[in-house]
Amino acid sequence: MATQVVSMTEFKTLTLKGRGKVRDIYDLGDRLLIVATDRISAFDVVMPNPIPDKGRVLTQLSKFWFDLTKEIVANHIISTEVRDFPKECQSYQEILRDRSMLVVKTDVIPIECVVRGYLSGSGWEEYRKAGEVCGIQLPKGLVESSKLEEPIFTPATKEEIGQHDENITFEKAGKIVGKELAQRLKDISLAVYKRGRDFAEGKGILIADSKMEFGIKGGKLLLIDELFTPDSSRFWPKDDYRPGGSQKSFDKQFLRDYLLSLKWDKTPPAPQLPEEIVRKTREKYLEAYERLVGRPLTPALSPQGRG
Ligand SMILES: Nc1ncnc2c1ncn2[C@@H]1O[C@H](COP(=O)(O)OP(=O)(O)OP(=O)(O)O)[C@@H](O)[C@H]1O
Ligand SMILES: [Mg+2]
Repeated sequence: MATQVVSMTEFKTLTLKGRGKVRDIYDLGDRLLIVATDRISAFDVVMPNPIPDKGRVLTQLSKFWFDLTKEIVANHIISTEVRDFPKECQSYQEILRDRSMLVVKTDVIPIECVVRGYLSGSGWEEYRKAGEVCGIQLPKGLVESSKLEEPIFTPATKEEIGQHDENITFEKAGKIVGKELAQRLKDISLAVYKRGRDFAEGKGILIADSKMEFGIKGGKLLLIDELFTPDSSRFWPKDDYRPGGSQKSFDKQFLRDYLLSLKWDKTPPAPQLPEEIVRKTREKYLEAYERLVGRPLTPALSPQGRG
């Protein structure tokens, strides 16, 4: 059974820092409250219907991965348990439960750290045109979705809302953040990616690529934002993997297929989704969680006991 559905939060007594397509972020001074709602986007447009439990899956998956990679790099998580959150958050505990994280507010490093293990999306586009991605020369004869011999670090700029991030060379990344830091980000991102990729592959999910973000707090480098969620990474079902074309999305394929079957032009507003698409999509998110973590996502506990 689904728990409370949250399309948007409006915590009047907290300071809203911003809303992404999926997450609402509140500023708590030296900490942030990141709330994953049940919003879903496709083709960069937010759908009118929420996907029940999606926000909980995203938060709990991130938490799982941050924990799995903490020996490689420290991260921003303080707690995902509402009872540990500051007093001013407690009146929203019913909404926050299982879908939110209290994190260290950092100075965000202004590049997106993308790692690609397979050729897809803008990586494939660049390769097709120039035989290289972000200045990295790749072997000839690769096809769309080819697995790369070794994962590559393909940084991008962070652009304002509405603009697409732009792929840059490692050299350019060095000019933006400094050569030494760029090298560190590259090494850490590759190590984190390999850890996640290997783990997920054993559970039948290919993580084709992933975007990571880093921040600095008190001179210390921290992995921030979200980690290896289907929103920050391409998840492909391993059983269906066939290089030579685009791959099925583990989580959004029903939604994409449905939208492509309509005459919708991929600009807002997006069409209402049939109940069946919502249900099947929800099941895929829960399946991703269960496969990766090894147990089903348990329903949130209400103050009385089971909720
Ligand atoms: N620990 C942190 N310290 C400071 N900023 C953080 C931290 N963790 C995440 N952020 C920032 O919070 C923001 C999260 O925004 P979010 O990803 O929800 O929306 P968006 O990037 O604006 O749009 P989109 O929905 O397209 O991703 C990002 O700008 C990210 O850099
Ligand atoms: Mg983002």
